[in-house]
Amino acid sequence: MKPNIINVSLNDKFKNISYPIFIGNNLLSNCEDILKRFISERKVILIHDSFFSLNNENNEQFILFVEIIKKLTESLNLISIPGGDKSKNISQLEYIVEESLSFKIDRGSLIIAFGGGVIGDIAGFAASILLRGIDFIQIPTTLLAQVDSSVGGKTGINSSKSKNLIGSFHQPIAVMADIDILKTLPRREFLAGLVEVIKYGLIYDVEFYNTLEKNYKDILNYDHLMLNEIIRKSCEIKSCIIKNDEKENGKRALLNLGHTFGHAIESFGKYDGTIIHGEAVSIGICLAFKLSSKMGYCPNIETERVITFFKKLNLPTSLQEFRNFTITTSKMLRKFKYDKKNKNNQFTFILNKKIGKSFIKNNMDKKILTKFLDDEI
Ligand SMILES: NC(=O)c1ccc[n+]([C@@H]2O[C@H](COP(=O)([O-])OP(=O)(O)OC[C@H]3O[C@@H](n4cnc5c(N)ncnc54)[C@H](O)[C@@H]3O)[C@@H](O)[C@H]2O)c1
Repeated sequence: MKPNIINVSLNDKFKNISYPIFIGNNLLSNCEDILKRFISERKVILIHDSFFSLNNENNEQFILFVEIIKKLTESLNLISIPGGDKSKNISQLEYIVEESLSFKIDRGSLIIAFGGGVIGDIAGFAASILLRGIDFIQIPTTLLAQVDSSVGGKTGINSSKSKNLIGSFHQPIAVMADIDILKTLPRREFLAGLVEVIKYGLIYDVEFYNTLEKNYKDILNYDHLMLNEIIRKSCEIKSCIIKNDEKENGKRALLNLGHTFGHAIESFGKYDGTIIHGEAVSIGICLAFKLSSKMGYCPNIETERVITFFKKLNLPTSLQEFRNFTITTSKMLRKFKYDKKNKNNQFTFILNKKIGKSFIKNNMDKKILTKFLDDEI
């Protein structure tokens, strides 16, 4: 079957940015034709999640992929980085940068990020600062990375203060999402990725949300047609939103639905795996809907529908589920201060009028927020 191809093209005044996302089955073991025009004899640094190893015969797709890259270039070096948000830090970044330089890269060299959102974010960031910027390709291997983090060019690492505070915008030159690589993904990680898929329906497209609600059992059973469809649709919605707002000066902020709460919750977990990104966003989305209803923007029935769906998927929906984090209202408010959407010391939240209609709420009333958090914690 031929891959779906979505073209991301950004309306930038100064440069023409456009790149393809390939989505399909068995792409990694058949990617020679797709990748030859991007690689052709360049020096390649393959930064991969340590889950994938050339010595593990269960990683057949990874091994075949490496064989193909070797056919396309004589210069290939590998850097292995553990997945998980604990790796998105300055020392791993330094390791990647120093290793890459030791391979004597030049400005024509290419980084390939092979892994989930963590590898994509840190490898993309390294590509953006090495020699003031070299090309990179995203090969996302988690559902979350296939539908979200590999597209749009946000790259970066976490700071001890909060998530994703150090980074850059650096678009990949191509993205290749092979659905078969998801076979080994733990169910918990798959569900965490599904949160970002549902997010697109919630912010932008009620029909898509209805489809997800109706077909969730097929999705959980890894129905290939369904997976192809939801990944394609998610990438389409994301590329449509970022088209006119690459640097998040406006509408792109909608993609942050649930993330202000989510990032704060995630950082309470200290990135040790107790709570993972998609799970924190799941709680964050439920809180954003509850807050929207409390403030009179969104009918209660819509909020209840969303929470019921997340519960059906066994996703966390409230802060109560992580009582061992010792979250308090004041600590939470302190975390919000690091949110990149804030303007003039005022908090900005993404709220909803209904399912499929998010909006940007600037100057959030701190009293309302404090009372809301007191009730939720
Ligand atoms: N740049 C963006 O626009 C953007 C958007 C959303 C999220 N993010 C970031 O993405 C990160 C989360 O991404 P993630 O959920 O992919 O996390 P991740 O990269 O840590 O991957 C999750 C886990 O799955 C493992 N893994 C990866 N692929 C696998 C496979 N095919 N089979 C088995 N195991 C596999 C990893 O080793 C890891 O343990 C967060 O840091 C978040 O901030 C970035």
